[in-house]
Amino acid sequence: MDARGQSVKCGKVDSRESGSIAPALLAWYDVHARSLPWRMPPGANRADPYRVWLSEVMLQQTTVAAVIPYFERFTTRWADVAALAAAPEDEVMAAWAGLGYYSRARRLVECARVVAARGGFPEDEAGLRALPGLGAYTAAAVAAIAFGARAVVVDANVERVVARLFDIDTPLPAARAAIREAADAITPDARSGDFAQAMMDLGAGICSVRAPQCLICPLRAHCRGRARAEQLPVKPPKKAKAQRIGHAWWIERDGAVWLIRRAASGMLGGMRALPDDGWNARVDGSGAPPIPGDWREAGRVAHIFTHVALDLVVMVSQGDATPDGANELKEGEWWPLDRLDEAGLPTLYARAAAVAMARKG
Ligand code: ADE
Repeated sequence: MDARGQSVKCGKVDSRESGSIAPALLAWYDVHARSLPWRMPPGANRADPYRVWLSEVMLQQTTVAAVIPYFERFTTRWADVAALAAAPEDEVMAAWAGLGYYSRARRLVECARVVAARGGFPEDEAGLRALPGLGAYTAAAVAAIAFGARAVVVDANVERVVARLFDIDTPLPAARAAIREAADAITPDARSGDFAQAMMDLGAGICSVRAPQCLICPLRAHCRGRARAEQLPVKPPKKAKAQRIGHAWWIERDGAVWLIRRAASGMLGGMRALPDDGWNARVDGSGAPPIPGDWREAGRVAHIFTHVALDLVVMVSQGDATPDGANELKEGEWWPLDRLDEAGLPTLYARAAAVAMARKG
């Protein structure tokens, strides 16, 4: 029997056992659920779909602690999906600055506009999945958490908990099918949103990547992988990141700095930035500056992207070299230094700006 009282045929899931996992986890969640700004208390079975959707998009590849202040700012400024749909895209991009994975912000606006035009979020997983930017995970999470629908929600935390519970030792990503099947078998019909969030909380706290606290785990009696929990799930070998060197130029005039907007596609797409050389210089090379000047290195910013490790060399000009050359600048804007925090610079360029400003003294 699975959590719905149906018979289960799943290589790793013992059908008698699977039905008792959800009640044990939900009882634990009733007491230990994290209080988070997008959440309803355990048992509510419904939540504002706008807040759930927004939080789930923000939480992709980003920690809860990093998301909370962004979530609070977004929902104060844009209280519902209609407000977000009416917002200019560049304001949303600027508000997103620092959260990373910026294509999410553009998709967010696109999705908000579709949802506002149709008068609200679809309530079922298939309808949600058809919205721009909603992958299988987000559609399942919103269906379960906001609308109380039964949906199988598998993020990285859930993946880890399930791989351990059922001792699934196939390396990722090949293990995903078995993990999903096992997650499906233990997902209850009722309270599947609470169940999903309980799995996330368990994964974020007790069933952590390193040093899981099996002794206090509410699922310890069910856990087959407990003896080797730290080795599960088995990760594929790490690919080495491509090493890149880039140069960014700090061009300053009359209390303003020259900022460009990056191409919509590609890394940090659509975000404001310092002009740079495309980060393709060789280790000992130096990109050509956009205007002539007596350029010196002010410092470097090391930044790790998903597939790239970048060393960005921040170049500042000695003396007042920029005004003549500034005539050659196009496709950008002079941004007042005293309002630089409003430019929505992504973290890489915000750090580069700090290096340049510190150098100036
Ligand atoms: N990570 C992704 N979604 C989450 C949620 N709803 N609660 C806590 N952590 C999460």
